Amino acid sequence: MTADRPFFITTPIYYVNDLPHLGHAYTTVACDVLARFMRLDGRRVRFLTGTDEHGQKVEQSARAAGISPQELTDRNSAGFREMTRLLDISNDDFIRTTEPRHARAVQAIWQELERRGEIYLGPFAGWYSVRDEAFYDESELVEGKAPTGAEVEWLEEENYFFRLSAWQDRLLAYYDANPDAIAPRSRRNEVISFVRSGLRDLSISRTSFSWGIPVPGNPRHVIYVWLDALTNYITAVGYPDIQNNDFSSLWPTVLHVVGKDILRFHTVYWPAFLMAAGLEPPRRVFAHGWWTVEGQKMSKSLGNFIPPKQLVDTYGLDPVRYFLLRELPFGSDGDFSHRAVVSRLNGDLANDFGNLAQRVLVMINRNCEACVPEPGALGAVDTALLDAARRLLDAVRAHVSEQGFHLALEAIWRVVGEANRYVDEQAPWALSRTDPARMRTVLYTLAETIRLLALLVQPFVPGAAGKLLDQLAVPEATRRFEALAGVPLVPGTRLPKPEGVFPRFVEEPAG
Ligand code: MSP
Repeated sequence: MTADRPFFITTPIYYVNDLPHLGHAYTTVACDVLARFMRLDGRRVRFLTGTDEHGQKVEQSARAAGISPQELTDRNSAGFREMTRLLDISNDDFIRTTEPRHARAVQAIWQELERRGEIYLGPFAGWYSVRDEAFYDESELVEGKAPTGAEVEWLEEENYFFRLSAWQDRLLAYYDANPDAIAPRSRRNEVISFVRSGLRDLSISRTSFSWGIPVPGNPRHVIYVWLDALTNYITAVGYPDIQNNDFSSLWPTVLHVVGKDILRFHTVYWPAFLMAAGLEPPRRVFAHGWWTVEGQKMSKSLGNFIPPKQLVDTYGLDPVRYFLLRELPFGSDGDFSHRAVVSRLNGDLANDFGNLAQRVLVMINRNCEACVPEPGALGAVDTALLDAARRLLDAVRAHVSEQGFHLALEAIWRVVGEANRYVDEQAPWALSRTDPARMRTVLYTLAETIRLLALLVQPFVPGAAGKLLDQLAVPEATRRFEALAGVPLVPGTRLPKPEGVFPRFVEEPAG
């Protein structure tokens, strides 16, 4: 029913002056879950990620490393591409802002803004933070630094300006007409009050360094890195060729997932640039929270970050993906601690879901000649469990479409809990002697429940879910969500030997 509504999802493009870490992994995994969910739900999906490669910060880092900016970007962009493989990310495209398709799009949007009278040349004097690649007002500085704690420098240059101040009312009208365009709600309120307080024109070119896309007609200037970076989202759907099928079907049906630190760029500058260029602003921007690590602020400059590879090597990929999306409400800040990961891993995954599946599959293997058992007539308790699992899709879809990942997982795990209670109450191991026919009905009900649960957890834990579906001999072709209401497990189907999919995490003995 939703197949005709395409879904375009983007991560921020990551700065290449640093290596991938937990924060990047978080945004990327969240987007991957959305992309996989929508594909399984029958929608046409475009999932974009990539790297942000221009700007003064990159130029400085390259100089410090004694290499050219191009060498630095090639090397570090490859690290982010590697992260997508490591985390089993299903992106359809990986954009680099140093690609020719992107320079073309950025210069085109510049020319369009210029043609429409949205750009003028003037003197700039003000504070700039290279770390944030952002301009700050005197009034925003805290003890001589940016509100983010970054160093600022005084800048006096002739710059091109974008007439942002003229867009205040139209931005407010856009927020007003699109209540879901900024989420969560508290963030939306923040943005609205920022815009209400008044907007100044924005400097959108720089002359003091050269690692960037030249301003058309005045190559002494390079285009401000945020105008360059934000444009990646439309480069990827073919801008400036807006008649093409990608652009016309995918823009503006986009969901930009970003961290809270870059909300203003995505919800003030970006819609203003787009509207000023005669394009539609994005459908929705969701700002997620920040992780601390064992109670400490994680920052690139402090260097206490966790590389994604360390996460996967320590805990395994599915547990990491599950933890990141289950532990925090998406939008809130939280702490990443070893204890918290192990508790989720051993509790929710190994004990609750893993044991359920393992117990049932082993019993089937031993007592039903390793075939899906033939059920008798289902009783009320059996249908109650199956109905609970079948009803999940609607609830999970509603949560996921609002990026409420933890609520979706909570709902799924409530049924895991019900299934575990059902096993305990029905005690199929005892039935094997007293009432084998009833045992087969109970085991069938459980196996079918596990099939439904495994289908639903695919976007979150694709590896484990795939193995569970293999163990239930569910063909690849019937793993989309439409199969939840489709043909149930077929009695007599031969099943492979069961294997655990969520192993317990065992601490290494100290020393
Ligand atoms: N290049 C810009 C984005 C341009 S998008 C047009 C940028 N890059 S970044 O590499 O610094 O950050 C990318 C994302 O990582 C941001 O969404 C940021 O919020 C996220 N995170 C960085 N550290 C984080 C945590 N400690 N926790 C959660 N996410 C964090 O900004």
